[in-house]
Amino acid sequence: MKKSTAKSSASAKLTSIPNGSAAPRIAIAIMAAGKGTRLKSQIPKVLHEVGGKPLLEHVIRAAASVVGASDVYAIVGYEADRVREAVRHTGINFVLQAEQRGTGHALMMAADALARYDHVIVLSGDAPMITAATIESLRDFHLRERAAMTLLSAELANPTGYGRVLHKKPGSPEVREIVEEKAATASQKKIREINSGFYVFDVKALYSNIGQLSTDNLHAEYYLTDMAEVLRRLGKRVVAFPTATPNEVLGGNTRAELAAIDQQMRISKCRQLMSDGVSIFYPETCVIDADVEIAPDTVIEPYVQLLGKTKIGGGCRVRSYCVIRDSDVGDNVMLRPGCIMEKAKIGAGAIIGPYSHLRPESDIAEGAHVGNFVETKKIKLGKGSKANHLTYLGDAEIGAGVNIGAGTITCNYDGVHKHKTVIEDDVFIGSDSTLVAPVRIGKRAYVGAASCITDDVPEDSLAVGRGRQVVKEGWARQKREERAKK
Ligand code: UD1
Ligand code: CA
Repeated sequence: MKKSTAKSSASAKLTSIPNGSAAPRIAIAIMAAGKGTRLKSQIPKVLHEVGGKPLLEHVIRAAASVVGASDVYAIVGYEADRVREAVRHTGINFVLQAEQRGTGHALMMAADALARYDHVIVLSGDAPMITAATIESLRDFHLRERAAMTLLSAELANPTGYGRVLHKKPGSPEVREIVEEKAATASQKKIREINSGFYVFDVKALYSNIGQLSTDNLHAEYYLTDMAEVLRRLGKRVVAFPTATPNEVLGGNTRAELAAIDQQMRISKCRQLMSDGVSIFYPETCVIDADVEIAPDTVIEPYVQLLGKTKIGGGCRVRSYCVIRDSDVGDNVMLRPGCIMEKAKIGAGAIIGPYSHLRPESDIAEGAHVGNFVETKKIKLGKGSKANHLTYLGDAEIGAGVNIGAGTITCNYDGVHKHKTVIEDDVFIGSDSTLVAPVRIGKRAYVGAASCITDDVPEDSLAVGRGRQVVKEGWARQKREERAKK
């Protein structure tokens, strides 16, 4: 079969599979037990991050969207507890490969878990670019070909490091064998069609013959790739499905490969946002995680990081050097340069920065201003209120129309407990005030500049808590004259 035929027929839906028989039971197994020696790391390979998430989590996400989390099995081994813990929230199943004796051995360990399925799609936990669409095309091709084993192959400009696909005959989808890079001859190394490490197996064909794998190779491991030759020798159908999107097969075996994958994910996220109506200047300098949402007509300046589950409304401007994690920013917000935010909520039309630090549970209402070198933590700042300069606001509930003068500090911590400061609507706090919590400032009250407020301030009153000014007339002149006499 020619490649073009393979591609066009792959777009047919699963429901059009011949036979009209009941839908086959399909599982996805993700090989994730390896250590990742080439990374020289204490962290298991599949937990290294690209695009803001562990490699394995990307693969799980694609897998679960094809078959559902309850039919996804991650084969874990090296630092198994740590890997399970990191992805437990996805709701998938785990199989233990206590000793890592190769990719073939990994599948041997999953025999019981997979026994009740007709077919198993095998993915690599270290190849995170794979998409649901490609997995579905591979599955449909496998079912249509009625193959015992189907592998996804890719033409790479630089195939170094990958297994190479040898066909029975040129132009035929049927595979003779897969040769690993290390075992390949000089002429085989020139083959640019590589084994992606993604497969579909007929479960019966796999498990009735997997015992024939041997460890007779350079690494003394059971290679899953050798199943191609094993099954072909038994007269079973082994085919390659050439992917139209070779980038999806890239694996993160080395730090350089991780960086390359991360870069691709970042740029494709930026492209997606741009096509959805977001302006991004110098997108190659911006780090935007996969789950970030941004509404149209927002402008992202160079060197911005938008991380985790951050949401940004429309018509905003995010100026350079902002680092924002898990925050919710309303429409038409101006984030001036250098703002740092985590788990913060910003209402529409607010102006933040430059250099504001909004720590978790900072809730800034519509039209509020938070300015230079202001740090907030667990506060509500009401509509239109302003804290423009050099201030710390923590554990505080601040109403609407409040003006917080420069250098104001909420003293929220007594060394053991945190206490709350309440500032009601339309209060004016003079500059350089310290508010010793717990304390409440009533509506429309004024606090004189440089006050230390330890007691509640009633509505409509003025509180001044500072030493009185003393003026000694002529004091300076007298000092000067004394010095001149000496
Ligand atoms: C493998 C393929 C190679 C293919 C490449 C694509 C084999 C022998 N070779 O090589 O043909 O071109 O993928 O990326 O399969 N793992 C386990 N248990 C083990 C060993 C590995 O779960 O005992 C897991 C690893 O964690 C990894 C995946 O299997 O997620 C692939 O293993 P890796 O060592 O990266 O294989 P490659 O050398 O990349
Ligand atoms: Ca690999």
